[in-house]
Amino acid sequence: MNRELKPPIIRHNDPYRAFYTSDNYLVAYLIHLLAPENGDSCLEPAAGSGCFIDGLLASGKKLKIRAIDLSENAIIALKVKYAQNKAIEILQQDFLLSSGGLFDDSFTFERIIVNPPYGGWQDYEKRNFLKVLFPDLYVKETYGLFVAQSLTKLKPNGRAVFILPETFLYLHLQKGLRKRLLEQYSINSIDIFPSTVFPGLSFGYAKLCILSIDNRLPIPDQTVKIRQCENLAELTMGRGKKHEVKQNSVLQRQEFTFPLNGHSSETQLIDASILRLGDVADCVTGIYTGDDGQFLRRLHNNSYKIKKYREIDPQKLVFKADFQPNLEGFRDEKCFLPLLKGGGVPYLKPLLWFIDWSAAAVQNYRANSKARFQNKAYYFRRGIGFPMVSSGRATASVIQDSWLFDQSVVGVFPKDSALFGFLMAFLNSRICWKLLRQINPSTNNSAKYLRRLPILLPASDCLVWFNDLVSNYLIKLESSAQRNVEIEIRLDEAISCVYFDALKDCQVEVVQAASENIKRK
Ligand SMILES: C[S@@+](CC[C@H](N)C(=O)[O-])C[C@H]1O[C@@H](n2cnc3c(N)ncnc32)[C@H](O)[C@@H]1O
Repeated sequence: MNRELKPPIIRHNDPYRAFYTSDNYLVAYLIHLLAPENGDSCLEPAAGSGCFIDGLLASGKKLKIRAIDLSENAIIALKVKYAQNKAIEILQQDFLLSSGGLFDDSFTFERIIVNPPYGGWQDYEKRNFLKVLFPDLYVKETYGLFVAQSLTKLKPNGRAVFILPETFLYLHLQKGLRKRLLEQYSINSIDIFPSTVFPGLSFGYAKLCILSIDNRLPIPDQTVKIRQCENLAELTMGRGKKHEVKQNSVLQRQEFTFPLNGHSSETQLIDASILRLGDVADCVTGIYTGDDGQFLRRLHNNSYKIKKYREIDPQKLVFKADFQPNLEGFRDEKCFLPLLKGGGVPYLKPLLWFIDWSAAAVQNYRANSKARFQNKAYYFRRGIGFPMVSSGRATASVIQDSWLFDQSVVGVFPKDSALFGFLMAFLNSRICWKLLRQINPSTNNSAKYLRRLPILLPASDCLVWFNDLVSNYLIKLESSAQRNVEIEIRLDEAISCVYFDALKDCQVEVVQAASENIKRK
């Protein structure tokens, strides 16, 4: 992969996002999936340096190829490169606006192959236009629009192959695109692989996927082959962890997310659950000051970004005893309140951060367009903080009623206080982590994903047991700050017991479905 030679553009406004797929093995694998036949018309709507055109030519088939790119530089280079080949037509066009007149709409193709721009910058006028064209899609992200637009250019029974960020398979914002694909097309295969197969490039996406899809309504038994590969060798040689899922089973799932490791007892429980975290607790994101360097202070022993954050002056702290919840801010010298930020500490996080809650600062949070004075009904309420980003395990810690929480934390506020201890234990449990990573396999724990966690409520005496144990543990932690691993394990095991039977039943269903599938074949 090479970057196109062009003057550096700041990432935010880069309209091209030109990362090229120059690895021959990868290109050959994509062409193998595309399986072009002699006489086929092929489209490459984000042609770049022409790596896929080279792949199509290397297939040895007699093909008619149309290559499109937005970039003038790319088009000039392509015209020079393929000057001798009459079967290749090269056009400078904006593929996304093609049905706006730039492109002959009646022209469709048997094969389409695309490595689209990811996150390409669209000006606001164009976004509005695209929103009309694709009302169910997320128009800020170019790759989804490229997929949708490409599929409108595909002949009946034609095939398209795309390289996309893996997040497309489960991201909340892409649910409209997934629904479209699952309802209207036949998905053949999805291969997932680390983006590090493109050396020297950081996409900001941990993984990518290759999607092979046909322009044909899915048959009732349509199965999608999902493969997880560790590296390029596994990908191109057909190895890796393989799963098959029914296409219509994905359509039944919440937000149409693909089960990346096939169906399991956890996915079954998630899909079948009648009660979710969002039903028993409000899950909301916290405040953003707009300028944390100015408005946050750190405790003296908090060494995180010492240059950015000033140390708190203890004279300016508001203590719980003097505390009156207040959304207008304090007019006093003492105006800094404790703030819970992200970071993985279970049950009780030591206080490391403080937020300026002076009247002037609060006024700024309300007025500054960069700040987020959001979900204020949950400020100064006792709740459970779950870090927005985490890896390795689930950790949840208390948000005290004299604290605030910022946008690096999802605040979980049980609708019934009797659930506090149980939910705190659940949100620290191994089961919660497994379920959450099935809902969103990345490290992102935003409120949208937490709300979907399946909740199995135990009997009321059991809820009392959780509440007592968690409350006593929190009191101990407040006085000594010494974690007690035994108590944490007891709570974790108690959560496993609550979920054990349901997960076992789900496992039976998964095994039954798999054996029926084998019999049918
Ligand atoms: C990720 S590169 C892919 C290039 C090539 N297909 C490959 O894999 O090596 C994306 C290409 O899309 C082009 N592009 C970006 N926005 C476009 C648009 N709206 N219409 C057509 N091409 C566009 C960029 O100029 C760039 O060459």
